[in-house]
Amino acid sequence: MNELKAREAAEYIQHSTATIPKIGLILGSGLGALADEIEQPVRLPYQSIPGFPVSTVTGHAGHLVIGRLEGKPVAAMQGRFHFYEGYSIEKVTFPVHVMRLIGVETLIITNAAGGINKTFSPGDLMVITDHINNMGFKPFLQAKSYRPSEIYTKQFITLAEIVAEKIGLKINKGVYVGNSGPSYETPAEIHMLEKLGGDAVGMSTIPEAITAHQHGMNVLGISCISNMAAGILDQPLNHEEVIETANKVKIDFIRFVKEILRDL
Ligand code: 6GU
Repeated sequence: MNELKAREAAEYIQHSTATIPKIGLILGSGLGALADEIEQPVRLPYQSIPGFPVSTVTGHAGHLVIGRLEGKPVAAMQGRFHFYEGYSIEKVTFPVHVMRLIGVETLIITNAAGGINKTFSPGDLMVITDHINNMGFKPFLQAKSYRPSEIYTKQFITLAEIVAEKIGLKINKGVYVGNSGPSYETPAEIHMLEKLGGDAVGMSTIPEAITAHQHGMNVLGISCISNMAAGILDQPLNHEEVIETANKVKIDFIRFVKEILRDL
């Protein structure tokens, strides 16, 4: 990680806004709409921020949006960098280093994931309690602050559960499996992951969660179950069901995260 570059990026951001964000949000595929609700937003395209990688996947807008959400100062990444796009782990996690430098103490990391746990349904939300890192990189061990049992902040998992109950939202808790991608898994691979204790599978989140944890940040991970993984459902969703599910999960997700922000 290039400390000098991260500082340069942080300074650029700090010159662009008077807000000192305490909460960071990384918004996964299809979840960027939450950033549109930020008040008095300063929207910085990634390509304008020194040292930031530029995101390529369509559906990822590629902006850092800073402002207030539910009264709280936030910095939201609308679009993230994936390992499978060819970015190094250093590049994927660069924005997390920068967020720490601009004042972020709590990072809410979100993603769209495939459901493995048979009790889940498409459109469900899952609070991440732990992960299985199958992405092909290892955390940097020079960080003496790396405690693998404490990556996902227990206090925030509990807070998320309380909030869900308060607003009458059914949520799941579970283990996120991070695969390197770029392709989805075979039914046999999903069966293996199920036996290994995975509840949902995706291709992101783990690099950012480890980095934030190593910086001493609180981490809350939320997966939106956009579909069930291969071989889990007897019948795949049809196109209408996919659209319907995406809309439902987006509405629940926005309501959930806003309510968490209120209570933080
Ligand atoms: Cl089924 N697999 C992976 N790796 N990522 C996903 C997914 C499945 N569904 C959404 N994202």
